[in-house]
Amino acid sequence: MADAAELKTMAARAALERVETGMKLGIGTGSTAEAFVKLLAEKVKAGLSITGVATSDRTEKLCRALGVPTATLEQLPMLDLTIDGADEVDGQLRLIKGGGGALLREKIVATASKRMIVIADATKKVDTLGAFPLPIEINGFGMMATYLAIRGAAGRLGLPDTVTLRRAGESPFITDSGHLILDASFGRIPEPEALSRALHDIPGVVEHGLFLGIAQEAILAGEDGVETMVAP
Ligand code: A5P
Repeated sequence: MADAAELKTMAARAALERVETGMKLGIGTGSTAEAFVKLLAEKVKAGLSITGVATSDRTEKLCRALGVPTATLEQLPMLDLTIDGADEVDGQLRLIKGGGGALLREKIVATASKRMIVIADATKKVDTLGAFPLPIEINGFGMMATYLAIRGAAGRLGLPDTVTLRRAGESPFITDSGHLILDASFGRIPEPEALSRALHDIPGVVEHGLFLGIAQEAILAGEDGVETMVAP
């Protein structure tokens, strides 16, 4: 029986086949993206020429350590392909991302790319998004007002208002862009688009982890092999 790490590597290996020489490549964050970077580094050593744009300081550091060439999104504002993990994927390729706290940069990089491919183990596939708490990146200024506004918006949409501040030990978790994260345990999000709009209407919300209409393909590895899903 393959363990989770092997399944992530299987998905990453399948995604690597979509990478062509000369590509400007968005590179995701998280354990599955790290498996991808390790395989990518082997290809680079063997002669593949790509330039990566990392979605987090963590990924940037790993790329540098393994010899994967990188540039900033300022230097390469239009990318060919982004490959990244996800916390949940539904049948329409709508995602929850941000378990690792990199959702803002991940969304900026993915939407600056012609294509986004999600790589994950098959346990990430869900019928309805929301069992995984939705990460919401907020500005530190007025955080209590933003917190209350998010709970209010959730209530109006008939969602539970269980929202907690993410911590890193004793302190609040701070993102690479200097913001805070609230994790919203909605359980089920029957209408992700309505929730996305409601959250974007709150000024203190910088971004949320719903990726809607962004991914074109998902490569999911399970016990029975690799399943590829394409956006409807
Ligand atoms: C990082 O902020 C996230 O969006 C990750 O892509 C997501 O949490 C998936 O991580 P794993 O690959 O570690 O499950």
